[in-house]
Amino acid sequence: MTSPQPLLSRKSGPLNGAARIPGDKSISHRALMFCALFLGETIISGLLEGEDVISTAAALRAMGAEVERGGDGLWRIHGVGIGGLRQPDQILDMGNSGTSARLLMGLAGSHPITATFTGDASLLKRPMQRVMTPLAMMGVKFEAQEGGRLPIKITGPKDLLSIEYRLPVASAQVKSAILLAGLNARGATTVIESTPTRDHTENMLRHFGYDARVEKLADGAEAITVIGQQELQPCAVDVPGDPSSAAFPAVAAVLNEGSDITLSRIAVSGRRNGLYRTLQEMGADIAFEHERIESGERVANIRVKGSTLKGITVPPERVPSMIDEFPILAMAASCANGTTIMTGLEELRVKESDRLAMIANGLKQCGVNLEMGESSLTIHGTGKPPKGGAKISTALDHRIAMSFLVLGSVTDEPIQIDDATPIKTSFPNFVKLMGELGVGISEGN
Ligand code: S3P
Repeated sequence: MTSPQPLLSRKSGPLNGAARIPGDKSISHRALMFCALFLGETIISGLLEGEDVISTAAALRAMGAEVERGGDGLWRIHGVGIGGLRQPDQILDMGNSGTSARLLMGLAGSHPITATFTGDASLLKRPMQRVMTPLAMMGVKFEAQEGGRLPIKITGPKDLLSIEYRLPVASAQVKSAILLAGLNARGATTVIESTPTRDHTENMLRHFGYDARVEKLADGAEAITVIGQQELQPCAVDVPGDPSSAAFPAVAAVLNEGSDITLSRIAVSGRRNGLYRTLQEMGADIAFEHERIESGERVANIRVKGSTLKGITVPPERVPSMIDEFPILAMAASCANGTTIMTGLEELRVKESDRLAMIANGLKQCGVNLEMGESSLTIHGTGKPPKGGAKISTALDHRIAMSFLVLGSVTDEPIQIDDATPIKTSFPNFVKLMGELGVGISEGN
């Protein structure tokens, strides 16, 4: 285990310049998985080289795909074809990555092989029953810890059954685990989602020439169907920048008067851009420039200027499109003028940490007036940054760590985090990039 790395963030002044944000984490995982399922060689550029994605790469290698790094973000994959994964001869360690664990359980479970999944102290606490239930309906066998927790041993059946499954939680991970498994089932596998979640799996299926049919149902839900056991078509993937990572410099720029930054080539589809829409409603000067489609994804350059924010009520139906952005939105809300009300946040309790509690405790320590409910957070901003001066515990959660470091760029007293090591899971060059834009984050207690 690496030793904890404390970091300190102090008042910075305006952010200026342009930055290229690392590749989108969700798309990077899927790019590796789809390339591993393509029979032949493909190239990925712009891949996020964070620890979470490296866990996926290692697991795919252990299951027979050739996965090689050629240079910065440039990876060459030689895939095994649909149904071609082999039994790994080692335990698959997913580290901190829920996406790796859940999606790869779908993939591995769709093959007649046995594989054991484990992870770090954070991942061992996270619920896996949500993927086990539908995969068990497809014929996959599980030996799990109490409460459906990792480590989990899974054995895929010889003939995987196709299913129709309505998601009980709005989760792109569960949807994707089923669709990935469905690629190796005979016939049609359908996932029905009442609330739209990120659709990178569907987009990438189409990018690889695979028919993913999306149908609107009478009740407004969407049914996504794949017909299994067809091969993918060759194509390269160029991964766009991650809107969830871009959120950190974007909010730092909003909060620091006089800022003007441009974050280039960010994934901005309506299923991911909820934070940016919310900040705009709060009064932030944010513009999507040069919007276009690349590698099957909507991308744009995001220009952000320093702005004055007001509190708002965030519509609960928007939550899935900004599910990872509530920690950083809460930082912005704590500086806004008036009350920001966030509801429908129950999923935040089962992320890399109990994010609702971590946000509320940390902000209280910084002097913010707030109320936390079972699945809600109400933050009373004064129009000025809170006093800060807190030591924040990050509990293996990268987004908690980065959010409080951003808040420290505007508080009178510096904010310290107890451990920056989890930042490497999603945004390895965070401190350097923030420094280049004008936010000084230094080591130390
Ligand atoms: C992800 C989906 C979301 C998100 C996670 C990445 C994905 O999780 O929080 O960071 O890549 O599918 P849920 O599906 O659990 O909401």
